Amino acid sequence: DMDSRVEELLAQMTLEEKVGQMNQYTGFFDVTGPAPSEGDAKNKYNHIKSGLVGSMLNVRGVAEVRKMQQLAVDSSRLGIPMIFGFDVIHGHKTLSPIPLAESASWDLEAIEKSARIAAVEAAAEGLNWTFAPMVDISRDPRWGRVMEGAGEDTYLGSRIAVARVNGFQGDDLSAENTIAACAKHFAAYGFVEGGRDYNTVDVSSSTLYNVILPPFKAAVEEANVRTFMNAFNIVNGVPSTANNFLLRDILKGKWGFDGFVISDWSSGAEMMAHGYAKDLEHVAELAAKAGSDMDMESYSFVKHLASLVKSGKVQESVVDDAVRRILRVKFELGLFDDPYKYCNEEREKEMIYHPDHMAAALEMAKKSIVLLKNENQTLPLSKSQKKIAVIGDLADDKDSPLGNWRMAGEDNTAVSVLEGLQKYNADVTFAQGVKLVTGPTAFAVELEVNTTDKTGIKEAVRLAKKSDVVVMVLGEHGLHSGEGRSRSDLGLPGLQQEMLEEVYKVNQNIVLVLMNGRPLTINWADEHVPAIIEAWQLGTQSGNAIAEVLFGDYNPSGKLPMTFPKNVAHIPVYYNQFNTGRPEREGGALFWPHYMEESHKPLYSFGYGLSYSSFSYSNLKVNVAGPEKVEVSVTVINDSDVDGEEVVQLYIHDKVASIVRPVKELKGFDKVLIKAGEKADVNFILTDKELGFYNGAGEFLFEPGEFDVMVGTSSDKGLKTSFEL
Ligand code: IFM
Repeated sequence: DMDSRVEELLAQMTLEEKVGQMNQYTGFFDVTGPAPSEGDAKNKYNHIKSGLVGSMLNVRGVAEVRKMQQLAVDSSRLGIPMIFGFDVIHGHKTLSPIPLAESASWDLEAIEKSARIAAVEAAAEGLNWTFAPMVDISRDPRWGRVMEGAGEDTYLGSRIAVARVNGFQGDDLSAENTIAACAKHFAAYGFVEGGRDYNTVDVSSSTLYNVILPPFKAAVEEANVRTFMNAFNIVNGVPSTANNFLLRDILKGKWGFDGFVISDWSSGAEMMAHGYAKDLEHVAELAAKAGSDMDMESYSFVKHLASLVKSGKVQESVVDDAVRRILRVKFELGLFDDPYKYCNEEREKEMIYHPDHMAAALEMAKKSIVLLKNENQTLPLSKSQKKIAVIGDLADDKDSPLGNWRMAGEDNTAVSVLEGLQKYNADVTFAQGVKLVTGPTAFAVELEVNTTDKTGIKEAVRLAKKSDVVVMVLGEHGLHSGEGRSRSDLGLPGLQQEMLEEVYKVNQNIVLVLMNGRPLTINWADEHVPAIIEAWQLGTQSGNAIAEVLFGDYNPSGKLPMTFPKNVAHIPVYYNQFNTGRPEREGGALFWPHYMEESHKPLYSFGYGLSYSSFSYSNLKVNVAGPEKVEVSVTVINDSDVDGEEVVQLYIHDKVASIVRPVKELKGFDKVLIKAGEKADVNFILTDKELGFYNGAGEFLFEPGEFDVMVGTSSDKGLKTSFEL
């Protein structure tokens, strides 16, 4: 069996070879060319050949992976195959919507399928491991990486974490088209102060247990995720990479995780800057002891771990445990049966951009769109609509819709909004308007936003004047969100707001198509523009999906996975806040948690999203079926003349508890298709699992008592009742 194969191999390994398994390097030379003859590259090359490298990242493509793998398999003493990791975040070559957008679909099956397809394409390029899903909960849209997660809610985030892991890993990890997943970043990375990437994190144990950890726990316990990645940040003053409490006590202890943990890129070495490790040797000692099993690009293990064991500072059993975990995953992937299992040129050719993948990416893109506003039935546009102006630099952008974190994605391969509309033979005329960014754009380059060149505004106004309807495509450049892309202003970047207001002066019949990687503060637009759709960054099929929604061939059904604040100063803003001792009240009083200038209410709440159908809720019933079992049912009627899908959401409030509970917490949802004029009965079951919570010591408690329950169309609208247990 697997375990004895692992033990057999481990018994043959030298200490150095064991430590080698714990070392990961990034791709460093053109494998198809000659061997590197000097410097770091030469070292790494030789390390692979001497069995000192267990894994590579950023090497992909069958030809490259095979050559790299050959170095390890043919030249190292034991020929242990390497595992090839890569950031496969939202699709691989065929790009699906950014994860935050996919999460707006609340469609777990579609999300799982999307990850499945990403895995098929990645595996076809020789890869066997993705650094995804990111399951970090975040309440801060200033943080650029919210694009990569499932939003602010721990329940939705947990369900989506499970769906994504299942999608990547499939039901047979050894199959040639499934890959190992990685729950990241453990833990609390989404709570960086001020939304500044890599910043300090300071969270209570109650928030840690109730909000941050559940998606990670679900990934382990419900989907058997095979790997974890450390976060860059500290938790309770200790960098995650050397955090015994997180890694040993919780992950490998309480949760019984038997996969392996990789550091983030140089998160080991960064412990020196944190002021936690005095040198790289100390890094290796702390990280290994705490339970980090593999080092990504810090070189701490490969340089120091063997000597730390020899000097007795680190026990060899710590190394053995890490190596066992890594080897186990390699066995599970089938790499020992055939190190080239994932290397098949035919499959690579056949699977990349497979038409089925394109079709699924289109479905996913449509499902991800959220209708934020639709006054006077501005939408859908009639197919015989005359004179449509399409305005905005993003409207003919074939790159921004691909979003950030699309490492294997090819530039400029998205269907633009303009192209999407033109396919409908719509009577469209285009004006670029103001340019969004000047200067170069690339993954690791700071964006320069255009704040001076207003020439495009005139052109936009001229076109808007002579058009019947104006589709304005505004928002963020594709690289405005993502790692390192924190923002302190969440308005439309650059001169877009000014252009919108100028256009509005001459034509108010505007449909605003938002393209962005995070919630934005679009109060002015919400007040003035009659129709707004949130089209995020929808991937390869972006423009086609948007056109189908604009022309009513697809009825939007997405719901926001993250609150849209009115003002950056309101952040953190999230629906499941606490009542405080001085809850919400209407006007008049001074001494309550409010702002003097304006309402702190969000612009759009978590769970919000409209449809071309209209749904009404009735008949909310609660039946206490046992001491820990409550049945909840509701009737939803589609009282419009279009078929539509509705995400029915259930929230609870535990009224009195030994740890105060939020005013509302999502504890169930169901996406139902309801035909025009028809109704659906939707049922939920609540058990101690949904009704309980963690105390500050991490114990799960279920406390009988009185609960409010709300079932409705968003976190701020629904039918309410209560029950007692
Ligand atoms: O997987 C990523 C991680 O999320 C951020 N740092 C780099 C890693 C590898 O690219």
